[in-house]
Amino acid sequence: MAINVEKLSDAAGAAISGLDLTQELSTDDTQALKQAWQDHMVLLLRGQELTEEEQERFCRTFGEIAGLKSQNTDSKFLFVTNKEDPNVATAVQIGEMMFHYDQAYSEHPCKASTLYSIEIPDIGGNTSFANCCAVYDQLSDKWKDRLEGKTALNYFNYATNPSLRPDQIDPDAPQYSHPVIRTHSETGRKSVYVNRLMTIRINDVKKEESDEILTYLFDLIESPHNIYEHVWQVNDLVLWDNRCTAHARQHYDPEKRRLLRRMTILDEKPVV
Ligand SMILES: [Fe+2]
Repeated sequence: MAINVEKLSDAAGAAISGLDLTQELSTDDTQALKQAWQDHMVLLLRGQELTEEEQERFCRTFGEIAGLKSQNTDSKFLFVTNKEDPNVATAVQIGEMMFHYDQAYSEHPCKASTLYSIEIPDIGGNTSFANCCAVYDQLSDKWKDRLEGKTALNYFNYATNPSLRPDQIDPDAPQYSHPVIRTHSETGRKSVYVNRLMTIRINDVKKEESDEILTYLFDLIESPHNIYEHVWQVNDLVLWDNRCTAHARQHYDPEKRRLLRRMTILDEKPVV
């Protein structure tokens, strides 16, 4: 049976049906899946009951598995949740998390992330995905010229509130400068590679100019016409292209348990 690809929004995202990820994927299905991923940047596979091994096998379709940068562990799964579990690697985060690219603060951010939903609050906790290739395409020529060749410092401190931009930097927290405009290694499309949570400043310009540029870009990235907002159901597997889609978590009731299993995929190329 051929897979079915159904667009989820004008900005990004497609729902894939006709696949059972507890089984090995055929060559044709793998090819179709990769094409859909390039076309839509975010893929949703609903109603999948997946073990860790099956999620990992799916991830290996797209590349090598990335380790955890945020924790000192051999585990390649990170449980994104609001309730600590001492038996697994958890990222305990409560409520909103602003737009970001996973691992943008590191030299080699992952190229893709997957989240598999295990427990979901009945209201809130949606994940929004911003198509940052579309954002680049919407820039005027003047803005494109202005941003060409610029780099920005990306930073993250796990100890701080992910719904606020930091007003000062801990020099010991992870940080790395990347180009503001990056080119996708497979599609060749350009995208805007800054985000409100982790991008602290544009390098080599005055603070006022950096603030002006970042405010403009953050607002454009977060414009509703550039966003697909995903409302989770249990047993959803979502794969997104972390090179060109920023994502954010919406607020939810911290008393309600939210538990997702994340696995990321290494990028074989540096950000360019
Ligand atoms: Fe994330």
